Amino acid sequence: MSIVVVEGLRKVFGQGELAVEALKEASFSVEPGELMALLGPSGSGKSTLLLCISLIQEPTSGRITMNGQKIYDNGWTGVDVRRFRRENIGFIFQAHNLIPFLNARDNIAIAMEINGVHPKAARKRALELLDYLDLLSRATSLPATLSGGEQQRVAIGRALANAPSLIFADEPTASLDTVRGTKVMELLKRIAREQKTAVIAVTHDIRMIEGFDTIYHIVDGRLVIDEAVAKSTTA
Ligand SMILES: Nc1ncnc2c1ncn2[C@@H]1O[C@H](COP(=O)(O)OP(=O)(O)O)[C@@H](O)[C@H]1O
Ligand SMILES: [Mg+2]
Repeated sequence: MSIVVVEGLRKVFGQGELAVEALKEASFSVEPGELMALLGPSGSGKSTLLLCISLIQEPTSGRITMNGQKIYDNGWTGVDVRRFRRENIGFIFQAHNLIPFLNARDNIAIAMEINGVHPKAARKRALELLDYLDLLSRATSLPATLSGGEQQRVAIGRALANAPSLIFADEPTASLDTVRGTKVMELLKRIAREQKTAVIAVTHDIRMIEGFDTIYHIVDGRLVIDEAVAKSTTA
């Protein structure tokens, strides 16, 4: 079963002559453990797509099904959206968005505590995640004392905290140099392979998505599949 099925998703900002159709009838599906990349220039609608699928922004029309559950259908929302998001989706942003006064471990643990996990259990799993991310030695460090790459890996740990079936990464490597950016992307690939977590990653750097299963280009709000990659993975 697909993790996400998106059908005819549209998003229009504004009205009348000033209306901007940021997303034009986007349709696609993502399977468990699939690595999907979304490439496109600034302003092409990449963030809008991620925000609409996760219902952080309300779509204008279309349908979204996640884990077999219809979460959006032409203006109708079928679930407690915030809770659904917390339990099913992990987010990674361009800037890491860590809480500055919490150390690496607690930045991850708090994501679980919000979901009702006991603080002790949350800290234990946070340490396991830091170990998995090769960051155990930085567990008690504050974000400001970590490098950009380390901060982004803590953000990945936070995204993984509640074992989501889906990770959305919006330009996760944009603030990193190529070496650190590549490392972050390798980590996302490993997570998809080992934990069967589907990843939708937005980037404008094609070098970052080597080995991805599916590549979509987004051009003025319209989603176009990269046929070369589609052929090579189905062959
Ligand atoms: N909240 C908003 N209000 C009005 N227009 C918006 C809003 N968010 C995005 N847009 C417009 O939608 C288009 C796509 O934006 P966005 O999804 O942020 O692009 P990208 O992430 O690819 O850079 C742009 O034309 C942008 O100006
Ligand atoms: Mg964007």
